[in-house]
Amino acid sequence: MISIQSVSFSYTGAGTNEWALRDVDLDIAPNEFVALLGPNGSGKSSLSRLLNGIEWPTEGIVTVDGLSTADPAAIAAIRRTVQIVFQNPENQQVGVTVGEDIAFGLSNIGWPQHDLSARTKWALQLVDLPVDEDRLVAHLSGGEKQKLALASVLALSPRYLILDESTSMLDPIARKQFVDILHAARREQPFAVIYITHHLEEVVNADRLVLFEKGRIRAIGTPEQLLQEGELLEACGLELPFGRRLALSLRKAGIPLSASPDLEEWRRWL
Ligand SMILES: Nc1ncnc2c1ncn2[C@@H]1O[C@H](COP(=O)(O)OP(=O)(O)OP(=O)(O)O)[C@@H](O)[C@H]1O
Ligand SMILES: [Mg+2]
Repeated sequence: MISIQSVSFSYTGAGTNEWALRDVDLDIAPNEFVALLGPNGSGKSSLSRLLNGIEWPTEGIVTVDGLSTADPAAIAAIRRTVQIVFQNPENQQVGVTVGEDIAFGLSNIGWPQHDLSARTKWALQLVDLPVDEDRLVAHLSGGEKQKLALASVLALSPRYLILDESTSMLDPIARKQFVDILHAARREQPFAVIYITHHLEEVVNADRLVLFEKGRIRAIGTPEQLLQEGELLEACGLELPFGRRLALSLRKAGIPLSASPDLEEWRRWL
């Protein structure tokens, strides 16, 4: 379990009134899929950096499976347990070839040398990237590079995986493929996901959505619960899935539809 208790965070340290995060309380269970949503600058990336100890809270405490991120003795274990995939795959690739890229992280955690190649193949298969290990990273497409970034962290068997706008540089087809692969990988090897995005349609299957505004949690609930809050989501710059958007406009025009009509309701109304 990741536990975020009364956390406030400022990049300029204590004694400031510029808070990137303010009074945040949130638990993330093993194997849970939690989406972090909110406008630009609302604190999502700052929170993700607190979760794997790149930064630590100005106030409050973050623990990962009982270890505090403020404890220097725990940081290596926490960074192994909580992995991050960022927005730009090119900032996270360290190898010239696909094989080197995956092996780098594995070598860092002392993976047995004789098993590196088998583990690399396993990770490539897990993310559905059927390329040779000696393929040059520079020759991969954007979508393939992001799959490689995913393979490189999944090879390390993280218990918690943070995806910070990992799909934002992909086209809609590659984006959908990436999300599908993530779900498939979790079926093969369960892990928790902390998914940061501006695209609501990517997280309609999440366990919980957490909406941030100005560093605070503004709303939290299941997708079903939060999607009822159409106006709040839109005020936070999130575009509702098409069916929801249509239902919301029709409701505003006085048409008695539910917030999330199913096919039967649409048919009746039409
Ligand atoms: N490295 C930094 N140094 C100082 N302030 C920062 C830094 N990174 C972010 N901030 C500030 O912290 C606040 C929260 O920013 P953060 O990047 O966490 O938001 P975000 O929700 O991830 O936004 P986006 O959707 O644009 O990625 C903002 O006011 C931002 O300007
Ligand atoms: Mg961000």
